[in-house]
Amino acid sequence: MSTVLRVSNLEVDFQINDVVNNSPLRGINLEIKAGRTLGIVGETGCGKTLTATAIMGLLPSSAVQRGTIEFADHGVMSTHDMAAIRGSEITMIFQNPQSAFNPIFSLGAQLTMVAQRRGISNIPATLTARLESVGLRDPQRVLESYPHELSGGMLQRCMIAMALLSSPTLLIADEPTTALDATIGDQVLTLIASLQKREGFAMLFISHDVSAVAKVSDDIAVIYAGRVVETGPAHEVMNSPQHPYTQGLLGAIPRADKARGTLVAIPGNVPSVLTNIKGCAFAERCSWRIDTCDQEPPIVRIGSQSVACWVVKP
Ligand SMILES: Nc1ncnc2c1ncn2[C@@H]1O[C@H](COP(=O)(O)OP(=O)(O)OP(=O)(O)O)[C@@H](O)[C@H]1O
Ligand SMILES: [Mg+2]
Repeated sequence: MSTVLRVSNLEVDFQINDVVNNSPLRGINLEIKAGRTLGIVGETGCGKTLTATAIMGLLPSSAVQRGTIEFADHGVMSTHDMAAIRGSEITMIFQNPQSAFNPIFSLGAQLTMVAQRRGISNIPATLTARLESVGLRDPQRVLESYPHELSGGMLQRCMIAMALLSSPTLLIADEPTTALDATIGDQVLTLIASLQKREGFAMLFISHDVSAVAKVSDDIAVIYAGRVVETGPAHEVMNSPQHPYTQGLLGAIPRADKARGTLVAIPGNVPSVLTNIKGCAFAERCSWRIDTCDQEPPIVRIGSQSVACWVVKP
């Protein structure tokens, strides 16, 4: 199976008033194979959106980016290279569909603009078929509507339709269900999974909701304070989490696939991005902490899982 995306040692610093004052990404490594889904999960502020933004080449000018991003047959991509394929070979859907569309243009006008830029022929028929494929039963009415006239769920379906117009190789979905209520969010998740099965694009699925990530992902990467702390096949990470942070995350959420037990919150907070982190960033919240945790943890292989921890043994 060929690799669609490989991210190696991705680091991002922000430079404000000529001073580098935080390092929200501290060496992210990820890989997505053709037609597969990698789910990224982690608490708020851990660097999920920043990872997606860096991959898309959309970081603000105050950001300093290091590391490499390889995409499909293109090899290592510069920000300039990425701009040339952004919106066609690699597309993205965002958390809040209400703010992702321009309120003063109809959906038809906005989808037509994208289709024209992608060089799509027979645009009216293509848009109708695309909207039907995302479960919108009255495409004509949707095309004539303005964003405020549609529900959040319908708008999110429109955004998925827009992102898939160019038949991308990779779709990045950043919290696509977080702004929706639980039932609609679940329908959108099911839709995304079925579209991926049918159309074969690879996906980077980002969420702080472990259950949503587990539902659509083949593999999972758990991020903490700008680093991947555990990665592996989704069912293994969910059923046999190895890193103390992953165990804490899974122990803190209700799960439909497990017998009911007591939910336990992880004590403490994610370190501020202004903290100069030395060694394992999770150490100060970790009940397994030992003296060596103040040094950079090794990557330990346990079956198909990789875990960044001093205490976990192979
Ligand atoms: N433009 C920016 N300038 C300075 N710092 C930034 C900027 N954008 C993001 N950051 C920093 O990067 C950190 C990671 O942000 P990011 O948006 O990736 O978090 P996230 O994991 O997506 O969180 P959430 O679950 O809330 O969406 C933030 O804590 C923030 O301090
Ligand atoms: Mg985010």
